[in-house]
Amino acid sequence: KICNPPIGVSGDPTGVSPEIIEACKELNMTNDQLKQYMDSLLDNIQKGLKKETNATAIVKCFPTFVQDIPDGTEKGQFLALDLGGSNFRVLYIELGGQDVQKFQIFVIPDNVRVGSGDKLFDFIAEALANYANELGVADKNLPLGFTFSFPLKQVGLEVGLLERWTKGFDCPDTVGKDVVELLKNAIAKRGDVQIKIAAVLNDTTGTLLAAAYKYPDTKIGLILGTGTNACYIEKQSEAELFDEPDRGSGKNGGAFGDDGALDFVRTDYDKDVDANSLNPGKQLHEKMISGMYLGELVRLATERFTKEGKMFGGQASNDLSTRGKFETRYVSEIEWDPPGDFTNVKKVCEKLGLSQATEEDYLNLKYICSCFSRRAAHLVSAGLATIINKMGEKTLSVGIDGTLYRLHPQVKRLMEGKIKELVDPGIQVKLVLSEDGSGKGAAMVAAVAAKNDT
Ligand code: GLC
Repeated sequence: KICNPPIGVSGDPTGVSPEIIEACKELNMTNDQLKQYMDSLLDNIQKGLKKETNATAIVKCFPTFVQDIPDGTEKGQFLALDLGGSNFRVLYIELGGQDVQKFQIFVIPDNVRVGSGDKLFDFIAEALANYANELGVADKNLPLGFTFSFPLKQVGLEVGLLERWTKGFDCPDTVGKDVVELLKNAIAKRGDVQIKIAAVLNDTTGTLLAAAYKYPDTKIGLILGTGTNACYIEKQSEAELFDEPDRGSGKNGGAFGDDGALDFVRTDYDKDVDANSLNPGKQLHEKMISGMYLGELVRLATERFTKEGKMFGGQASNDLSTRGKFETRYVSEIEWDPPGDFTNVKKVCEKLGLSQATEEDYLNLKYICSCFSRRAAHLVSAGLATIINKMGEKTLSVGIDGTLYRLHPQVKRLMEGKIKELVDPGIQVKLVLSEDGSGKGAAMVAAVAAKNDT
């Protein structure tokens, strides 16, 4: 799915039932609402950056402890682990000369994602050992970058205390612990792989760095995937939690809204998604936006409209009434149908057992999808605009990765338009795709750390 998305069709009401348009009005955020959101987010970021307010702040702005942007001279062999996106991956990366990258994907079973921390870290160590052995690098003591994409209070480049789990993970006995230590122990227990953990990082940090390698004016890393989060380069004087000289960087978070700041725009669907998640009351901003939740939001609205007799002849199928059955990738697929073409939407309806769907149902469903994805794009844009206005740079690139950004036909275009409306006059922003920041970015941090070590 590359290039030439159908232009101008997102939110097109042509042929959509007036009652569906009416019912979806609450999903359309005005610029006044987005500006209210921005003021509140800025206030939250400022609280997160300050020492005396950080402990109670909702948006934590944890420093990343990354002080150097890669300059292209990084060399060597690295391993990386990527935990917290749609897949768990072990990667082997060679930097310098011809960049080589290989990886293996491992599916984390539900009973490992939720439960005891030992089980999860043993699983990770086993995957790492197996892959390193397969590649013949298990005894080389290679530096490893650990992309751990959950809220982490870093106290150093290789020390990170787990603040909380998000995105469907929940191993309560590890909260508050250093995840690098947990990984080290699991690896030592096995004894069949020698590595040196050089850094632990968030996926947004890797995304910023991987993009900066290619576009040196990159100052923000954004993930729009299973979860949503961003990090940016902050001045040392602002990042009070970072006590080193030079440059610090702060992170913003999907946790915004957990104090009620988003209540003025949250709908019944948002409340339902939150109430039925593993972490109710937490990550409310992220739950309005990202891949883990978008499909479910669309399902809830569609189910309600069907039960009210507005769609599908009032007949909801079992799947339409089952949590999690409307995958977020369906939202992207449906919106890829050009105007007048119902190929993807028809397939989705059939998959969900809604074969009675009429052309009007297709148009209605597509409209509902576009209202939720437009709202997500606008919220993310407002979040970015808040950071951009705070930074005060006149030109910059934002490195972005994540399944929602990559697969959705309209999100990038919607974001470009909205960011222009919300940033201070004269600021030029470019959105660039950051290719595999969680993998390559992790190797880069490990490389920079290894360089500083010698
Ligand atoms: C969740 C995590 C955060 C991560 C984001 C994107 O918000 O808590 O750490 O960066 O998802 O993966």
